Amino acid sequence: MSNEKSNRKVLVVGGTGYIGRRIVKASLAQGYPTYVLQRPAAEIGLDIEKLEMLLSFKKQGAHLVEGSFSDFQSLVDAVKKVDVVICTMSGVHFRSHNLMLQLKLVEAIKQAGNVKRFLPSEFGLDPARMGHALEPGRVTFDEKMKVRKAIEDAKIPFTYVCGAAFAGYFAGNLSQMGTLVPPKDKVLVYGDGNTKVSIMDEDDIATYTIKTIDDPRTLNKTLYLRPPENLPTQRELVQIWENLLGKKLEKIFISKEDFLASMKGMDFAGQVGVGHFYHIFYEGSLTNFEIGREGEEASKLYPEVKYTRMDEYLKVYA
Ligand SMILES: NC(=O)c1ccc[n+]([C@@H]2O[C@H](COP(=O)([O-])OP(=O)(O)OC[C@H]3O[C@@H](n4cnc5c(N)ncnc54)[C@H](OP(=O)(O)O)[C@@H]3O)[C@@H](O)[C@H]2O)c1
Repeated sequence: MSNEKSNRKVLVVGGTGYIGRRIVKASLAQGYPTYVLQRPAAEIGLDIEKLEMLLSFKKQGAHLVEGSFSDFQSLVDAVKKVDVVICTMSGVHFRSHNLMLQLKLVEAIKQAGNVKRFLPSEFGLDPARMGHALEPGRVTFDEKMKVRKAIEDAKIPFTYVCGAAFAGYFAGNLSQMGTLVPPKDKVLVYGDGNTKVSIMDEDDIATYTIKTIDDPRTLNKTLYLRPPENLPTQRELVQIWENLLGKKLEKIFISKEDFLASMKGMDFAGQVGVGHFYHIFYEGSLTNFEIGREGEEASKLYPEVKYTRMDEYLKVYA
């Protein structure tokens, strides 16, 4: 059953990334033999923080496996060492986005033939529900769907982890674009601010991700991160912050039309961001559907995980 410990070996590809590093940590914490792809010297260059992080994983018991997306055989050799592959390849345009590189990894997994579960880089809006998404932000969903198709065509066993906004990008800043810290005076509120949004602490996302890797209930399914006590509206988030701050913020309500018009003149990454925010806050795309037979909800499957509530999460910002 799901909670019995197996000895599945886990490879994290993209392990020094924002969500990747947490997944490495969670894999080690849950006792899995954990492997992390270490890119060759030429790709690490002088990025001392990346190397330091890799070495810290090693000190905590992870195995570093050298490999590169420019060397197909190295990917095959790396995935042959393990049972589960989790890819956390970059996909946020204002940082870096290389989701399509994953097609090489899918090919390597297909060739290696030993992988029992593959989790591609998802961790956001469910791309299968975003066929209507706006340009240019839809590129994220289109690319994730191409990767899904390659996985399913190759008959690779999979789990897609999606359905929550990262708290670091959506709670800490009260969902304001272009900043990571909460405002102290004025806050932009999307529409009436009453759309429910699934928001999760990234460490909890990593915990659930690792919980699922050996669970037959999530084989070839989507694991939705939608815990019932973490579905705040933007107004509720603002309220939590106001309570912590001990004062009211001035609220500036922005209509759907004005919000979409703000895309004009923005760079590509900004336009992608506005599109994604539009889907989340005006359409409610994280919460406006029932989870059907294609998926499972994380907190229902793993009630033992004590996920961080947003009132607790925001305390550190005060
Ligand atoms: N739901 C949300 O709110 C939300 C927010 C942000 C991101 N996401 C999703 O989370 C996923 C991961 O995003 P992230 O922000 O964590 O990514 P990230 O930190 O920007 O990058 C993750 C890793 O991608 C790898 N990478 C980038 N370029 C590469 C290249 N040319 N060759 C090989 N590896 C490369 C690096 O791996 P190494 O460690 O090997 O260097 C990097 O550490 C994406 O699918 C994204 O859409 C969701």
